[in-house]
Amino acid sequence: MAILDFELPTDGLAGCLIDGAWVRPTASLPIENPSRRDVICEIGRGGAAEIDAAVAAARKAQKAWAARPASERGAMLTELGNRLAAHGETVARLLAAETGNAIKTQSRGEAAGAAGVLKYYGGVAVEQKGETLPLGPGMISYTTREPLGVVGSIIPWNSPLQLGAVKISMALAVGNCLILKPAEDAPLAILRLAELAADIFPPGVFNVVTGTGEEAGAALANHPGVDKISFTGSSEIGKLISHAAADRVAKVTLELGGKSPCIIFPDACAPDRIEATAQGVVNAMRFARQGQSCTAGSRLFVHESVWDDLMPLVSEKAAAMTVGDALDDSVDIGAVINEERYAEICRYVAEAESQGASFLTGETPRETDGGFYPIPTILKGIDNSWRIAREEVFGPVLVALPWRDEAEMIAQANNTHYGLAAFIFARDAATIARMTRAIDAGWIQVNQGGGQIPGMSYGGIKQSGVGSEYSIEGALEAYTFRKSVTIAVEP
Ligand code: NAI
Ligand code: MG
Repeated sequence: MAILDFELPTDGLAGCLIDGAWVRPTASLPIENPSRRDVICEIGRGGAAEIDAAVAAARKAQKAWAARPASERGAMLTELGNRLAAHGETVARLLAAETGNAIKTQSRGEAAGAAGVLKYYGGVAVEQKGETLPLGPGMISYTTREPLGVVGSIIPWNSPLQLGAVKISMALAVGNCLILKPAEDAPLAILRLAELAADIFPPGVFNVVTGTGEEAGAALANHPGVDKISFTGSSEIGKLISHAAADRVAKVTLELGGKSPCIIFPDACAPDRIEATAQGVVNAMRFARQGQSCTAGSRLFVHESVWDDLMPLVSEKAAAMTVGDALDDSVDIGAVINEERYAEICRYVAEAESQGASFLTGETPRETDGGFYPIPTILKGIDNSWRIAREEVFGPVLVALPWRDEAEMIAQANNTHYGLAAFIFARDAATIARMTRAIDAGWIQVNQGGGQIPGMSYGGIKQSGVGSEYSIEGALEAYTFRKSVTIAVEP
């Protein structure tokens, strides 16, 4: 038997944390390591029965949870963040094993980031404040921010721990109870987090049900006892969930895909800037996460005057990244999550090649018997109307398009049904001000391609989503309602 270089959750292999106890459904779900393509373990595969039980537990616990002082709820989130930080390395190794995201560049940072999110919400939970109205003497009118009740959250596999931490924090900080449904491809780090959380929160406040989307996911989205659904994943499933929620007027938060522009101005390629700009483009594209990021800057618009200077540098940097086993500490880029996604990436690149695209670096990925390792690929000779320039490939595939006229470039950059993120590389302040106004996106980064920071409101426009996450403002807007109270003190 292979010696595991990560620590499995113990109780969590049951799959479901319901009302403070671990429950193992009879059906099971194999979890594969996409780097090594072996089965790591089997966990419980929940469905409608487990969702029913978890919703009942959450409903039972919710009023008492909401009645606790916000400072107590916050302290519990902070405690979970501290525990996660203390177990950071073992959780990061587990995460790398199940997601294929390299320990060095991704999983270690994700474990730390998730702990940071929990601690942020632990601190700001006390900011659940309302407003007062100056109605005159004898009248007191004010609002309070009340929790919605029971929240169901469904998360994907690309950064499961970070997204799990966001969903847990936003729901619980403001007094809701939660049922979290992790992705069937990568539930183990979440189950480890649930083990760390099990004796922190009162029974029923935080529940986890693992299982497939069709079984556990759909049962949660359609459950009449769920007041709000928060979903991160594909646009296709996001729309299904929106429909399900509309039938009972449940609230929704959606964080769906993107096809985000990364725009290069000539002054960002001055001799003293060009290295940093090239690295920024590589970071924005999320090559180090196999491109499996909704914020990936996957459409690169390069001013034609600097194309010949910049593109060889970007290609060189992307090609120099080491691809391999996510648990190998010398590796920059790990493996794509599963065979289906890998095959889809292969199809996108092959189609673009057949349409006449050529490679600045990379190649059409081939079917493989080993891990799912596509290499960083940059394509030119693309038309903005092709599928590869319009749809989320969710692989390490960057399309590069030259531009000359600013207005035309802006029209192209905005010509997408998505509006999640954008990246602008420029030095001139007037250019930066003009571009940040002109580009339609929920999050614009200038001269960098970093990750989300606790406290920022992050969310998409157009078909990229509804609502914003990572901030207390987002939690108040999307996980509470305003109750207005008007008191005639001296009628
Ligand atoms: P998906 O949207 O099917 O899965 C995300 C989550 O939704 C998982 O927990 C899954 O179990 C659940 N789910 C699936 N079907 C469901 C249903 N009928 N009802 C309720 N829940 C359901 O994503 P998938 O299939 O893993 O990836 C497909 C594509 O989606 C990717 O290639 C990528 O383009 C996009 N995607 C975008 C993400 C983002 O962060 N915006 C994250 C993951 C995928
Ligand atoms: Mg799917």
